[in-house]
Amino acid sequence: MADPALMAQGDTLDHPLARLLVSDQARYASQTGPCVTSEPTDAGPIWQQSTDKQASNHAKDGLYGLDHVELSAGATGFMNVGLWVPRPDIDETRAVSSNEGTVSGGECQPLVRACERMVCAVAHAAGVQRGTRVLDCGYGLGDQCLLLATKFGCGVIGLTKSPVQAAVARDRVAALCLSNRVVLAEGDAVTIDVAWPALAPSPDWTPDVVLSIDSAYHYQTRARFFAAAHAALTSASSSPARPGRLALADLIVPSTFATRTLFSWIPALPVANLGSIDDYVLHLDRAGFEAIEVQDVTDAVFPGLTTYLCAFPGARKWRVAGWMWWAFWKALAARYVIVSATVKKSV
Ligand SMILES: C[S@@+](CC[C@H](N)C(=O)[O-])C[C@H]1O[C@@H](n2cnc3c(N)ncnc32)[C@H](O)[C@@H]1O
Repeated sequence: MADPALMAQGDTLDHPLARLLVSDQARYASQTGPCVTSEPTDAGPIWQQSTDKQASNHAKDGLYGLDHVELSAGATGFMNVGLWVPRPDIDETRAVSSNEGTVSGGECQPLVRACERMVCAVAHAAGVQRGTRVLDCGYGLGDQCLLLATKFGCGVIGLTKSPVQAAVARDRVAALCLSNRVVLAEGDAVTIDVAWPALAPSPDWTPDVVLSIDSAYHYQTRARFFAAAHAALTSASSSPARPGRLALADLIVPSTFATRTLFSWIPALPVANLGSIDDYVLHLDRAGFEAIEVQDVTDAVFPGLTTYLCAFPGARKWRVAGWMWWAFWKALAARYVIVSATVKKSV
């Protein structure tokens, strides 16, 4: 399994994913306690499974793969839109890059900081504390799970749709010997209510919080996910004295002729998820949530994100992605929100 000392030798560090595991040790190992021998994974590290070093870099499951690791020079695998403006109300001291300076590739620090700040903001909205048990949906390469486990002291069960991303995320967890606190699986977020019990590390493990960071606009449908999150949080063994919470960082795109037409061509963006902020709140209410709070963070997301991507010196597709986000923001009137809600006591 991943041995950072061995990976630092020879040309293995040419592989962005190998660099990622080395970076993980610098970022998180001090929080994980002794990790003498990494835990075995089913098939070994993903870059060793590939005969072509570049192959896993291009591996994709639909929309998402591994190549976005380039965006932070292999320092992290974050792929959320980022919160690019500091928030005085959010405790960022748990963000690794803001207080420990361990992010390699100085020019990528703004991206990593913005992504970490987004995780801190969603965790804050969810009321995450030390010991909180989290169901994390759409975790990508698992960066947010590592942050929640090591810096916030959470137990995490994660479900994400991309098998190749899940495989890399599990490698990262194993390399940090975190498998007792972080259990990551592949699966669809809309099945979180039926999926989590089989992943629970102990029979008394029940979720306090469901999170979805920059992912729910993909779900088929987001309303189904709200219902599944509610069911997970109200499972028989959950404590009625401590109503469960749901928190999301999410994209809201109004339903217009242009957006309905565009989304009907893109399977990863279901037309059913189009709608206003009021529609979003209505869906949460119908699913059984109350105390719904919506923070419109559009101006803290899109200017920073589009500026970073449009000026990115690497692969051209990232600059194209920057212009795509700019079009969502300016031409399609998309908003970006951080949303939190509590399970209704009366339900
Ligand atoms: C923009 S990426 C964000 C990844 C991660 N949250 C982060 O911030 O780095 C969206 C993620 O949602 C996942 N995803 C898309 N549809 C999903 C679904 N139906 N269920 C679970 N995960 C899904 C993708 O695989 C991808 O990892």
